[in-house]
Amino acid sequence: TKIINCYFYNHYIPSCTEKTPYFDLAPDFKEEYLKQVLDHFNYNSHGNGTYDQRYLITDQYWKKGNGPIFFYTGNEGDVWEFALNSGFITELAAEQGALVIFAEHRYYGNSLPFGKDSFNIPEVGLLTVEQALADYAVMITELKKELGAQKCPVIVLGGSYGGMLSVYMRIRYPNIVAGALAASAPILSTAGLGDSIDSFSGTNIDVFCLLIQDFEKFNPACKDAVQGAFQKLNTLAQQKDYRRIQSAFSLCKTPSTPKDIHQLNGLLRNAFTMMAMLDYPYSTHFMGSMPAFPVKVACETMLNVFILCRPTGVVYNSTGQLTCYDLYSLYVECADPTGCGLGFDSYAWDYQACTEIEMCYESNNVTDMFPPMTFTEQQREQYCSKRWGVVPRPGWLKTQFWGDDLATASNIIFSNGDLDPWANGGIRKSLSPSLIAINIPEGAHHLDLRESNPADPESVIVARKEESEIIAQWVKAARKKSS
Ligand SMILES: *[C@@H]1O[C@H](CO)[C@@H](O)[C@H](O)[C@H]1NC(C)=O
Ligand SMILES: *[C@@H]1O[C@H](CO)[C@@H](O)[C@H](O)[C@H]1NC(C)=O
Ligand SMILES: *[C@@H]1O[C@H](CO)[C@@H](O)[C@H](O)[C@H]1NC(C)=O
Repeated sequence: TKIINCYFYNHYIPSCTEKTPYFDLAPDFKEEYLKQVLDHFNYNSHGNGTYDQRYLITDQYWKKGNGPIFFYTGNEGDVWEFALNSGFITELAAEQGALVIFAEHRYYGNSLPFGKDSFNIPEVGLLTVEQALADYAVMITELKKELGAQKCPVIVLGGSYGGMLSVYMRIRYPNIVAGALAASAPILSTAGLGDSIDSFSGTNIDVFCLLIQDFEKFNPACKDAVQGAFQKLNTLAQQKDYRRIQSAFSLCKTPSTPKDIHQLNGLLRNAFTMMAMLDYPYSTHFMGSMPAFPVKVACETMLNVFILCRPTGVVYNSTGQLTCYDLYSLYVECADPTGCGLGFDSYAWDYQACTEIEMCYESNNVTDMFPPMTFTEQQREQYCSKRWGVVPRPGWLKTQFWGDDLATASNIIFSNGDLDPWANGGIRKSLSPSLIAINIPEGAHHLDLRESNPADPESVIVARKEESEIIAQWVKAARKKSS
């Protein structure tokens, strides 16, 4: 059997065989660390030292000293997770002779500036978008020198928050970055812009029901079914019939308070949102394991009218190991109402959602399919000052990174999938000939960054081709300018 690179629940296995469970084919990445400046902006702070920042690099396709550099601006998690779920970037590198680097965001994965103390106060204070961007700018500059790549144009790429960072890199460091591919980057909604408040992170009932019904004719029974399930839960809760709730949802403990019911509603809402976001046409191991078309797996259509959804199994029991669902360990409420995940990475994301990144998303049961759950700026403030001793600064991201006023920027692709709950928080219409929106009708959350797959819809194949052509043009223009 062939030895390949494997990945198993956030742990990279350097060499294993095709028989290892949950393997993913990975390109030939080397894992490296860079001595990185802790605090780029304050020469006197507690962060006057350095920390080890992880990155992955492969030169297997690189035309040495000449080919471009494709630099992934890592986001809120272990960098391997992104490298192994962004195969398009290595495919593109093979096509264009590029060096590929995946950088890990500070405070995530193994790039913890203060080890296990990183989430203490004040150590956590060096977790900002600006520090992360400066890390990437320094890393690109140093690696170019080290690798004799001074003349090589750099293209940044990223998905979701990583896509936001790609946009910011291009507008903050255009001296270093020639262009950016921002896939599914909600740069508007996270800056408090647009109408994200209207629909819970865009988990639009109509789109969701299309996912269940295989793009067949829209069936109004679907909306009733999903809303009806939440309605039933809340009727049982009002009747204090907690035993029936426990058995209906296979909960480990009998809920007993309105707080428990609120938590259950949050856990269910999170499950639906995750499935919609990760509704890829084949099974994946990204943010947990998902079957192909998870929404359809979770929601069966019976007699073409009656619809029954059991999202908890698909999202929380993908290992098949759970005998019951523990309300408080599977889902943790945080400053991101769509969920922060679990473990250290979730602390970091919670802190970011408490500072620069605004996610006051609410569900209302009118424009979305979830029970009304508020998350006001006031609630956010209360939570954040209690949890992290910080007061969020609404509007800062918009000031710092231009909000929707991007007209003077250039060379950015904003790609979005119409199925993605996050899509409408991003740029959906081209803003100029070099600020290009690409919409992928059958795409979930940054499907375009994933490696080619036989199950890919035509629209993502077309999008990738267009992205590839635009990037090649940017590289060519950058080379011309520097010669
Ligand atoms: C730098 O950090 C060390 C160790 O935390 C501290 O002793 C020193 O005073 C700091 N220097 C400055 C200039 O802040
Ligand atoms: C988890 O999945 C396994 C395998 O499908 C199943 O036997 C078990 O009942 C599930 N757990 C819950 C709580 O539903
Ligand atoms: C959601 O709205 C419907 C009417 O559109 C209503 O019948 C139902 O009770 C609401 N559900 C919840 C959980 O508030």
